[in-house]
Amino acid sequence: MSTTREFDFLVIGSGIAGLSFALQAAKHGSVAVVTKRDAVESNTAWAQGGISCVTGPDDSFDLHVADTLDAGAGLCKEDVVRAIVSDGPARIADLMRLGVDFDTHQNDGMEEIDLGKEGGHSTRRILHARDTTGREIAEKLLAAARAEPTIAFFENHYAIDLITKRKLGFVTEDQCLGIYALAEDSGEIISFRSDRVILCTGGCGKVYLYTTNPGVATGDGVAMAWRAGAAIADMEFIQFHPTCLYHHKLRSFLISEAVRGEGGVLVDKHGNPFMQNYDRRESLAPRDIVARAIDHEIKRTGGPCVYVDITGKPRKFLQDRFPYIYQTCLDAGIDMATEAIPVVPAAHYQCGGIQTDVNGRTSMRGLYAVGEVACTGLHGANRLASNSLLEGAVVAHRACADIVTHDPPDGASPREYDIPAWVSGDVQDLDELVVIYHNWDEIRRLMWDYVSIVRTDKRLKRAATRLTNLRREVQEFYWNFKITADLLELRNLVDTASLIVDSAASRKESRGLHYTLDYPATDDSRPPQDTVLQRT
Ligand code: SIN
Repeated sequence: MSTTREFDFLVIGSGIAGLSFALQAAKHGSVAVVTKRDAVESNTAWAQGGISCVTGPDDSFDLHVADTLDAGAGLCKEDVVRAIVSDGPARIADLMRLGVDFDTHQNDGMEEIDLGKEGGHSTRRILHARDTTGREIAEKLLAAARAEPTIAFFENHYAIDLITKRKLGFVTEDQCLGIYALAEDSGEIISFRSDRVILCTGGCGKVYLYTTNPGVATGDGVAMAWRAGAAIADMEFIQFHPTCLYHHKLRSFLISEAVRGEGGVLVDKHGNPFMQNYDRRESLAPRDIVARAIDHEIKRTGGPCVYVDITGKPRKFLQDRFPYIYQTCLDAGIDMATEAIPVVPAAHYQCGGIQTDVNGRTSMRGLYAVGEVACTGLHGANRLASNSLLEGAVVAHRACADIVTHDPPDGASPREYDIPAWVSGDVQDLDELVVIYHNWDEIRRLMWDYVSIVRTDKRLKRAATRLTNLRREVQEFYWNFKITADLLELRNLVDTASLIVDSAASRKESRGLHYTLDYPATDDSRPPQDTVLQRT
């Protein structure tokens, strides 16, 4: 006996994109938020720097658009950039109405929003809540969503796969009809039924050995959408954050770019700045440039890391502006007021994803994607810092408005198609967990060694060969053993890793986040979003 649940809107994921969408959709029908851990666990909650938006007197939409296009290395879609940037102030107002407490300061007796600066921004435009902006936003959105009677939360529920018309045997235009999900506590597979499925599952940092991302970032949405036949774009553009703390225990801890925005300088082990050798913007150049420069310095000097030096700032300033980073560093034995912080680049953000328009529409009817999981064309070949929370909030709002205009819930019941219960077949208990962990480690290590900041055809080929074998093994597990959360994540990791490798192998140029020694020049004939992979 399996359970089927029906909703007008089915949202997968509970970061800024998922919760912003759910809050809007709740005005129009029933909403399920299906999320694989506690709802507060998301990439959003880990965001330190803030949310970029034009609010300052010296700023303008044109400037923000220009900075985004410049960081994106020629592959942003300008109309998408302009639409998202222009909608920003309205979405910031929404967040403030929900109680998000952005930092302010006094200016001539007037309270004004305190704006931070990050790499690639020509002016101060990052709204922040100390150095835990994401947590502040996530908590306020979650409190509002939990108070909505029409939003039901399904936590610790792992989406397995999309249910589509084709999978049910219809040979027509494909349409998404819902998802199967594993309820981790009971082990039951539930069919969630909806004509409006919104993937907001975030990114895939866990594909790499070193990442600033939380454990939930396993590429689930992209992998599921790809398996279902939706178009996936630009997956070669994985952003490496230049400054992840280099520490034997705290491997995922981010040293926010805002630290450099407030005067932190990248230095080598002798304390000498080096970014002037790479870009006129020095430590605040766009991330692709800074991460590549650090990679080069580490290889050149043979040292394990470089350093961010912000010792020029008073201790009190650091404690007030960066309380979380200050204390975490101190607990790790680093006093950032008196010593430089050791850092290395680490996988941070997936700029590609499920191909969508600026309203979150994918290539498949009934399927929408918002936030890091989606590729709208905002980021191009390299995301401008702090544009991601902005995109999540703006596109969620646009997507809901678009859906209720064009695909409104009709309240019709029963639904047109019967969804068969999940067939488990002849399953056995998975007693070879060790193999799963081994495969998990192997994927992350090979992606780090062969598909990170500097690539070559040979390394990509090696990665592809190994991933083909791993994929076969994971598929065998998937069909023969009882499904577990670990197995589902492993399956998504291997599919996502393969999409990154295949996309990277097809780009015979260097641009933004994709840098290959075999094709160091940029090929200006290539338009945005032309690395599209779609399963037929
Ligand atoms: C940071 O705080 O450096 C991260 C901001 C971002 O990735 O947008």
